[in-house]
Amino acid sequence: MGLIDALEQGAKLTREEWRHVLTKRNKEIADVVFQKASAVRDHVYGKKIYIRGLIEFTNYCKNDCYYCGIRRSAGASRYRLSKEEILSCCESGYAYGFRTFVLQGGEDPYFTEDRMEDLIRAVKSEFPDCALTLSVGEKSEKAYRKFREAGADRYLLRHETANREHYKRLHPSAQTLEHRMSCLAALKRLGFQTGAGFMVGSPYQTTECFIDDLQFLQEFRPEMVGIGPFIPHHDTPFAGEEAGSVELTLYLLALVRLMLPCVLLPATTALGTASENGTMKGILAGANVVMPNLSPQNVRGKYLLYDNKRNTGLEAGESLALLKEAVSTIGYEVVTDRGDYQSLKGKK
Ligand code: 5AD
Repeated sequence: MGLIDALEQGAKLTREEWRHVLTKRNKEIADVVFQKASAVRDHVYGKKIYIRGLIEFTNYCKNDCYYCGIRRSAGASRYRLSKEEILSCCESGYAYGFRTFVLQGGEDPYFTEDRMEDLIRAVKSEFPDCALTLSVGEKSEKAYRKFREAGADRYLLRHETANREHYKRLHPSAQTLEHRMSCLAALKRLGFQTGAGFMVGSPYQTTECFIDDLQFLQEFRPEMVGIGPFIPHHDTPFAGEEAGSVELTLYLLALVRLMLPCVLLPATTALGTASENGTMKGILAGANVVMPNLSPQNVRGKYLLYDNKRNTGLEAGESLALLKEAVSTIGYEVVTDRGDYQSLKGKK
């Protein structure tokens, strides 16, 4: 466990050391890593689990990522929510106890900078005690600044993979890792709590890719990290590929918790889809965030990034009571709180 302890103490592992940590995993090692990661999360955030209300407000997308079910070339039935519909999702969410809303969508040109700004101002003025997270992809720094000035607090933009060759195999050539990274740097500069992240088990991913991802995260120090298993979607070039491993996803979540003790780390919907108890397993591996769905019922079946995506039970905003109950049985508590990033200052 020497390397794991070193990681917890903030050491930067060499590639060779990372390779060892990633390839020598077995059940016993993983269980110890999960326990250590849980203890770190408890030290920073206590037994609190933060919830975010996910509003999937458009599934139009101009990009054509090979893995994604709402890519431009997919036959998805497209929709956009109006400002009124979005506000009404927030209103129900607020009543359930959500104090963070996540506006997530494809890269939809209809939502111009001005339309986004208007939307952000509307949500922030109606719900001033709530945090607003955006997840709308790559924009110019000028657009990001506008969003920030309009009141957006956080931004999710997974880097997808920190390996340039791998990035090219997941995306058409118009999309580059360099641009992705420059967007992430801009978001951080502008003061967003910034989220990066990647899929586990995406086609062509190797141990070397994970090393690149982990070293990137250690360097960039995002406030949030989204990690979920790759799950194939039938209408994409990766339709016939295998899904990613749940166990490896959990292990990576735990490693990220050890490396970035204060990180806001969701047990993702993909994890909850790939495994019956994925959400609970994620929490026991160090996650401290769950993002139930607040989108209107009639569009939930249309925002399908991968097949069989779950939007009922623990994944449904209106079923928060189920989530609270499940989380309490493992000794944690779902709280009504913005759940901002906390630093370790003053602790330890
Ligand atoms: N399987 C799992 N996750 C996916 N995403 C997109 N498509 C898939 C898929 N097939 C993830 C990407 C994206 C996030 C919103 O969803 O990492 O950044």
